[in-house]
Amino acid sequence: MRSSPGYLLFILEVVLLLGLVAKEVSASWWFISQLNIHALGAGVVCDNIPGLVGRQRRLCRHHPDVMVPLSEGVRLGVEECQFHFRNQRWNCSTLERDTSLFGKVMLRGSREAAFVYSISSAGVVHAITRSCSRGQLMHCACDPTKRGSGRDKRGAFDWGGCSDNVRYGSTFSRMFIDAKERKQRDGRAMMNLHNNRAGRRAVKKFRKLECKCHGVSGSCTIRTCWLAMQEFRLVGQHLKTRYNGATQVMMKQNGASLIVADKNHKRPTRSDLVYLESSPDYCVENSEVGSLGTTGRTCNKSSMGTDGCDIMCCGRGYHTRVVKQHYKCECKFHWCCFVHCKDCQRWVELHTCKGPAPQGLIGS
Ligand SMILES: *[C@@H]1O[C@H](CO)[C@@H](O)[C@H](O)[C@H]1NC(C)=O
Ligand SMILES: *[C@@H]1O[C@H](CO)[C@@H](O)[C@H](O)[C@H]1NC(C)=O
Repeated sequence: MRSSPGYLLFILEVVLLLGLVAKEVSASWWFISQLNIHALGAGVVCDNIPGLVGRQRRLCRHHPDVMVPLSEGVRLGVEECQFHFRNQRWNCSTLERDTSLFGKVMLRGSREAAFVYSISSAGVVHAITRSCSRGQLMHCACDPTKRGSGRDKRGAFDWGGCSDNVRYGSTFSRMFIDAKERKQRDGRAMMNLHNNRAGRRAVKKFRKLECKCHGVSGSCTIRTCWLAMQEFRLVGQHLKTRYNGATQVMMKQNGASLIVADKNHKRPTRSDLVYLESSPDYCVENSEVGSLGTTGRTCNKSSMGTDGCDIMCCGRGYHTRVVKQHYKCECKFHWCCFVHCKDCQRWVELHTCKGPAPQGLIGS
C-alpha cells in the first residue's frame, strides 16, 4: 500500500495543499470534503488528513469506508448552503486550498457559523444513511428495527422494503463531528454541539412513510411500508428558516450551559439554531472577520430583497453592463417524445456592485 501510486499521489496532494496554504486559520474536519477519499482507500491515510482530532482519526482508521459518504455529506451541506445563500451578502463561499474550508468567518460564533455547522452535520447524516441503504458500508444496512407489523393513521401495515437507517447515520455523525467540540467546554463548543444536533434532528424530521398497496385490483387491503428520508432540499429549507429565527445565547455564569441573551425571547428548542455573536455586515473585505465583501457581486436592480442592488452593494452603487445572453427559444414538441429549441440571443443589463470609495481622496 505504502508504495502504491495512489498513496504517493495522495501524499503529494496533501503536501501541495498544505504548502499552498498561505495563512492557515485552523484546520477543520470539513477539509476532508476536499480530498478524493475514493482514490485513497485504506486507513493508512487517516493520520495524514489535516484538521482531525485524535478520536476522529481513530474512527477514520476503524471505519475507512464511512469516510467516503462522510466527505460527500460535507459537500452536500456546502452545496445546499450555497444554494440558500446565493442571493445574500455572505454567500457561503469556500476558500480553495484552505484547510479551514470557510476561512476565518467560522471563527466567530455567528448565525452563519450556526447554519454551516447544522447543515454539514445534516449532510453527513444524510449521506451516511443513504450509503447504508445502498449496502455500501460494512457495518450498517437498512433499519433492522423496522420489521413485522406497524400502524399509522390509515391502519396496520407490514414493514417491508428498506427503511433508511437514520439512527446509524446520526450516531456516526455525532461521534465523529462532535469529537472536536467535546475536547473544549467553552461557549463556542456548546454552540456548535447544539447546532450539530439541530442538523441531525432535521434529517430525522423529514422522513416519510412510503407504502405500496397489495390486494385484489389494488384495493390496498395489505400495505407494505418503509420509512424513507426525503430530499435534502427540504432539510436545507427547514434549517434556513431556523437560521432566520436563530436565537442569540450566552454562557451562563457558572459556565455550565447556554442561556438566552435577551430574556424577552423564548428559550430555543433542540431543533432551533443558536449563536453567540452578531454578524459583521459582510459589506467590505475584512480578512480579520473573514468577510469577502460584495464588490463585483451581481445584483438585481428591481428586487427589494437581499439580492437587490441597494442591499447587496451596501449603498455603494453599482456598475451596469449590457451583455449578450443565450437562451432557448421557439421550442417545438416533436412526437414522440422530445423538445427541440433554437438558440437565441438577447441583450440584457447586468449590474455588479461597486467597490468602496478610494480612501484619502477627500481632504488630501
Ligand atoms: C460569492 O461571493 C464571493 C465574494 O463576494 C464571490 O467571489 C463569488 O463569486 C460568489 N459566489 C457566487 C456563487 O455568487
Ligand atoms: C429580479 O427581481 C425581480 C423582482 O423580485 C424578479 O421578478 C426577477 O426575476 C429577478 N431577476 C433575476 C435575474 O433574478
